[in-house]
Amino acid sequence: MSEVVSYRLEGDIGVIGVDYPPVNALGQGVREGLVNCLRQGLEDDQAKALVVIGEGRTFPAGADIREFGKPPAGPALPDVISEYESSDKLVIAAIHGTALGGGLEVALGCDYRVALESAKVGLPEVKLGLLPGAGGTQRLPRLVGAKAALDMIVGGNPVKAKDAFKVGIVDEVVGGDLLEGALAYARKLVADNAPLRKIRDLDVKKEDADLFTNYEKSIARKQRGFKAPFHCIKAVQAAVELPFDEGMKRERELFAELLVSPESRAQRHVFFAEREVAKVPGLPKDTAKRDVKSAAIIGAGTMGGGIAMNFANAGIPVKILEVKEDALERGIAVIRKNYENTAKKGRITQEQVEQRMALIQPTLSYDDLSDVDLVIEAVFENMDVKKAVFTELDRVCKPGAILATNTSTLDVNRIASFTKRPEDVVGMHFFSPANVMKLLENVRGEKTSDEVAATVMDLSRRIGKVGVLVGVCHGFVGNRMLHKRQAEAVQLVNEGANPAQVDKVLFDLGFPMGPFAMSDLAGMDVGYRIREELRKEDPDNAPPRNWTDDLVEQGRLGQKTQAGVFDYKEGDRTPVPSSEVDALIAKFREENGIQSRDISDQEILERCMYIMVNEGAKILEEGIAARPLDVDVIWIYGYGFPVYRGGVLFWADSVGLKTIYDKVSQIHQETGSDTWKPAALLEKLAKEGKGFYS
Ligand code: 3HC
Ligand code: NAI
Repeated sequence: MSEVVSYRLEGDIGVIGVDYPPVNALGQGVREGLVNCLRQGLEDDQAKALVVIGEGRTFPAGADIREFGKPPAGPALPDVISEYESSDKLVIAAIHGTALGGGLEVALGCDYRVALESAKVGLPEVKLGLLPGAGGTQRLPRLVGAKAALDMIVGGNPVKAKDAFKVGIVDEVVGGDLLEGALAYARKLVADNAPLRKIRDLDVKKEDADLFTNYEKSIARKQRGFKAPFHCIKAVQAAVELPFDEGMKRERELFAELLVSPESRAQRHVFFAEREVAKVPGLPKDTAKRDVKSAAIIGAGTMGGGIAMNFANAGIPVKILEVKEDALERGIAVIRKNYENTAKKGRITQEQVEQRMALIQPTLSYDDLSDVDLVIEAVFENMDVKKAVFTELDRVCKPGAILATNTSTLDVNRIASFTKRPEDVVGMHFFSPANVMKLLENVRGEKTSDEVAATVMDLSRRIGKVGVLVGVCHGFVGNRMLHKRQAEAVQLVNEGANPAQVDKVLFDLGFPMGPFAMSDLAGMDVGYRIREELRKEDPDNAPPRNWTDDLVEQGRLGQKTQAGVFDYKEGDRTPVPSSEVDALIAKFREENGIQSRDISDQEILERCMYIMVNEGAKILEEGIAARPLDVDVIWIYGYGFPVYRGGVLFWADSVGLKTIYDKVSQIHQETGSDTWKPAALLEKLAKEGKGFYS
């Protein structure tokens, strides 16, 4: 008998308990135990019905993802579930926590399902690049109809117990003690002589003939590049069109295809990487942390407002400071408008809008910040302004308060030096829009204490972000790599490519938009100001002037002025190539004696991507990022790098580091450019035939 699943008798009901922390994943031992305990229960004459329940925090939350890609070990989950569905005693699933994926599939193999009010159920396999491969795509449509099943399987989002009850996935919702509720329900079924109820024997509700083609069309844009959502649709279609056993076979084939697909491998990598980033080498889990019960933001501009919203959303009171009354009022009005818009879309109630607004307290006085636990500065990207702010913060903040900066490029160590407590200073680099983007690059300065670093990492999760801890350098990890790519994109245009061509190549790789559409969205003036700051601070290493500087100086700042690298029509974000910009580019080439040439899409791809890979390798070498997975998580959650490619460095492994190294070396020889100097780490891995992850 497996130890992770046990059988016991509670009066006249047999209880099968799964105890495999942390989430009762359906690993080999659990599957074997489930079968053995079912058989034991069926043989137990005293058991009139059986209840399956998860011990600890949850009903099984899915197949054991760590087993994917390893040689399969029986019994297979579909067979386990089939055995449950063949039981001649009533089997009741008792659900708490999150019954996800294979977990919900086990529950669907039972005759009835009872859930705690707080439970959630779902089939999130699509998020791992998979589909429910243990009958979920065949049983759920039989229970709830094809359209509702598609929504759950293709969307992958779990639903609350009371919603699951409404559509018939759950038969009874209970409060209080789950086991007690489930036993009472089981006894009632037995007393009522309730029939066995096998989902495989139900008919699928026939729906709209065009359901599947229409569904495919409806997701085509959002799911561009993903394979699994489309396979999910095919599997549900099989449930409608084929007898149960054939549908199961079809599901299995589609699942097997996805399991070995590069997309799913990448998505599973991201699942674990997202959890791994929180475990920072050298910062053990038991590192002391500070209590953050209140916060303050300096600057109510684009970033400050969004950052404040994260705290209010998490129920943490937050003050927001500006120097001038009108700027403060403007900032607060934008926050309110954002919340009102979310309420209009039905995502929060008007009451929640007011609750959150009440947590945000505007102020014009630094003296109001004397009691807060954390301050995040989000004022202009200018060292003198930062100096003034941190000098004030050092004066007013209580000892032990964390002083954070949201700077995107300035030196956090220098900012820390403006205070007498550099150990309390840290970077918290949010991404725009700060209330939406999940990434939070936490920047550890030379003197930042372990306690402060551990606290901001912990806080990231509390405010719904994925925090990644990085070191200090210009642009940190994300923007440092981004700036190299943006400069290369400009260089490609200098040589003969046009902006729309460059954008299309990166869009086709899976980015939400190309480099130029991105700078138009962020504002062309952002990069311009950074370049100008560099030209002032470090003229020897500053980028030479190019046609994008001319654009900004002519007032083409991007979407906000309806003209940047591209033109924009009023109220429309679609970039339209601009003849004015073409003329500026031509003039730039002429003035610099550049003979324009045809540039292939492949060259654009290699130069824009390999330069980032090379920079990523330098970042690892310098210890700015601790692991390749830190870099990958930053690119996925900060810049929309396609999840199905696993991150820039994971993608690089799929190309092959030797291929990349050879090309980087070749370009370096041709250009002599320092940026293209191959990273020692890239060279080493390529020569050893390794990847970043192997
Ligand atoms: N297999 C293996 N390990 C898993 C796992 C799974 N299905 N789900 C979670 N874990 C691990 C995590 O890696 C983490 O490990 P760590 O502590 O070593 O980092 C630990 O369990 C706790 O996970 P979280 O930190 O994510 O804890 P939360 O409480 O925030 O979330 C959860 C819990 C909602 C269950 C979340 O972990 C989750 O969404 N898990 C994935 C669920 C899923 O995708 N299930 C489908 C699997 S595929 C499948 O079932 C195929 C089938 O159709 C054949
Ligand atoms: P912004 O110009 O929209 O807002 C800055 C705000 O700070 C303004 O409202 C201004 O009135 C206020 N301010 C200026 N000096 C102040 C002072 N001494 N005290 C109090 N308030 C003051 O700028 P944005 O875009 O919000 O940027 C702020 C910081 O965030 C910068 O360091 C920037 O590099 C960084 N950042 C910006 C991102 C973006 O996409 N905009 C992304 C990530 C970081």
